[in-house]
Amino acid sequence: MSSNSILIVDDTPNNIRLLFDVLDRAGFDISVVKSGEKALEKLNSIQPDLILLDVMMPGIDGFETCRRIKANPENADIPIIFMTALSETQNKVVGLQLGAVDYITKPIQVEEVLARVNTHLGLRNTQRQLHREIADRILAEVELKQTLTALQQMQMQLVQNEKMSALGNLVAGVAHEINNPIGFLNGSIHNTKEHIQDLIRHLSLYQQSYPSAPAPIQENAADIDLEFLIADLPKLLHSMQGATDRIKGISTSLRTFSRADTEYKVKANIHDGLDSTLLILKYRLKANEHRPEIQVIKDYGDLPQIECFPGQLNQVFMNILANAIDALDEFNIERKLDEIKANPNKIKIKTSLDNNIVKITIADNGKGIVEEIKSQIFEHLFTTKPVGQGTGLGLAIAHQIVAEKHCGTLNVNSQVGKGTVFAIEIPIVAAA
Ligand SMILES: Nc1ncnc2c1ncn2[C@@H]1O[C@H](COP(=O)(O)OP(=O)(O)OP(=O)(O)O)[C@@H](O)[C@H]1O
Ligand SMILES: [Mg+2]
Repeated sequence: MSSNSILIVDDTPNNIRLLFDVLDRAGFDISVVKSGEKALEKLNSIQPDLILLDVMMPGIDGFETCRRIKANPENADIPIIFMTALSETQNKVVGLQLGAVDYITKPIQVEEVLARVNTHLGLRNTQRQLHREIADRILAEVELKQTLTALQQMQMQLVQNEKMSALGNLVAGVAHEINNPIGFLNGSIHNTKEHIQDLIRHLSLYQQSYPSAPAPIQENAADIDLEFLIADLPKLLHSMQGATDRIKGISTSLRTFSRADTEYKVKANIHDGLDSTLLILKYRLKANEHRPEIQVIKDYGDLPQIECFPGQLNQVFMNILANAIDALDEFNIERKLDEIKANPNKIKIKTSLDNNIVKITIADNGKGIVEEIKSQIFEHLFTTKPVGQGTGLGLAIAHQIVAEKHCGTLNVNSQVGKGTVFAIEIPIVAAA
């Protein structure tokens, strides 16, 4: 261990000699200066463990020196022992009030100096040790808190991921199950169409060959409105095919939504992602007893396929769109039906490409976000929704996916009572 260092500030050569001898013999590292000004100067370059300070000196006296030392936070906790004449009681009080730890009376008694110096160095070391321990403990506590928060966030994220992947699996399963019967229906309708055409042709052959059919046949033809039936049947089949094509489209969309992400980015169509997410949320957009259907207005620009994690981007769209629907419904609670009809619920989705940046804005005309919480909405676990309705993770996860996984930005703009716009910007690598 290095020896403790002591700075002696005194202008009397006898005192200096005496102090130097005794302290040097005791093994301390000693520096000596002869005035308050010199002491302050010295403290710029060294940090002694203790200062022995004479009160009466030419230039600034010991008290002023002490005041200036204490004023500098770097030196404020160096213990100072004043040296003053035995009779000057007032000096001792002033010194102690200025923050000195002790005083030594002159003429100097060697044993007294050693005893006081050792006591205060011991005290200072203990104090330092204590500070270190407290600081360590505070640090450990902060670290523990950080670890706990990180753990909680990870746990929530896991739950959310699991929910998304469970939803994905469910959706993928449903899409898969729909596929077989739809394939069968499509094929059957196609065959039925041909069979019906054949039958109709055959029937007209009959009509041409036997223009005057027996009465029961003619009566039945009139009853069933044969002419209309023959004209309508192909149309009916055509619409049936249209319907199965739509179901096929839905099934494809469901699979687009639920596609599992690989470790690498893949090229994907953003509009397919948005459409499939809207499809999943369709049940929430529909009219209900409190309001008419939420209108979704799409304004899709000309976008190339972009390298991304499509499943994760769908999660972003899902979280933002679900929030928009929540915001509309929360706004609807405050309004009467005619007010809602006068300013109907709308969600506008706009996409564009500018300077190799894909921009997607999702705007609602819901209740908006008050200024005070705008800065918090992207924080983990921040929610204004009742327990069970919101976990406060949607936007935190969306932000993370956009910013960290896609090097993009997610920003919000909102006006209370007017609505909210979320803007996603994702840079794409320019085509070579
Ligand atoms: N479109 C919006 N309009 C108004 N407020 C919004 C909108 N989107 C988000 N917010 C506010 O931001 C908060 C945080 O949103 P976030 O999606 O992170 O969590 P949440 O929706 O409350 O819960 P969940 O984890 O279920 O998504 C919401 O509670 C809401 O107050
Ligand atoms: Mg949400």
